[in-house]
Amino acid sequence: MDAQTIEQTLVLIKPDALKNSLTGYVLSQLSEFHTGLRFAGLKIVNVSRMLAEEHYAEHRGKVFFPPLLEYIMGKLHYPDEPGKHRVIAIVYQGANAIRKIRDIAGPTNPHTARDQKPGCIRALGTVVPIKDAEGKVIGERMDNLIHASANPEEGEREIKLWFKPNDLPPSMQAYDTEESDNYYYFNNGNLVLTHEQGSYCFLVPGEIAWKSDLDSLRLLAKGQTAPATLETVVAKYLINDKRRGIS
Ligand code: RTP
Ligand code: MG
Repeated sequence: MDAQTIEQTLVLIKPDALKNSLTGYVLSQLSEFHTGLRFAGLKIVNVSRMLAEEHYAEHRGKVFFPPLLEYIMGKLHYPDEPGKHRVIAIVYQGANAIRKIRDIAGPTNPHTARDQKPGCIRALGTVVPIKDAEGKVIGERMDNLIHASANPEEGEREIKLWFKPNDLPPSMQAYDTEESDNYYYFNNGNLVLTHEQGSYCFLVPGEIAWKSDLDSLRLLAKGQTAPATLETVVAKYLINDKRRGIS
């Protein structure tokens, strides 16, 4: 890869990092001074099940998928304090941002991280057994403090999942945008174009959206299949929306 390739990557500072007061440490490791990368966007997110499922869609069906959702939603580290269910979502931008952040994060499994890359962020993580109803160990959960996009395609998918264009400064909106041409409502898992009782308006005409989201919405509105699912588009608009309730 060209040494000067400018990329964007999504970083999540996960609930275990927040709980263990490692946020400052992680941000310091990722600072512009250390990495040469720049902050492009940052938000504190109460992660909905919809957002968690879309973010980790590739792991659907695996034994660690349900606990992985609970983990990223903050429910495992703050079982009795829903108000603390948060992650910090960051877009970083710069030359080879994806590889740089993955290197600083280290291997997925904290045990491997400690063995192979002492000093990386995930070396401070933990591995927790996953048990079935009878208490038999059926897998493991990796509490590894940080998420980082794996490649440019995943980076684009994830940034569009967590951030609206205008969450980023104009010069850092790396993907095509377009003005919405319509009202779009979400009603109990369905897309509707006119207001119905209980529906939630997530896009209005003139609002700036990712072009790929609008392309998918236009197909979905016609009952056709689209590159992005409705949930992938809507999850972002429900971020921190009070009407969803705090989960
Ligand atoms: P991430 O997406 O969180 O940055 O992690 P990654 O690319 O290094 O690893 P990935 O394969 O995408 O897995 C996502 C998260 O799922 C948990 N995991 N558990 N028990 C297992 O075999 C297993 N594999 C993955 C980890 O929490 C990992 O961060
Ligand atoms: Mg991954």
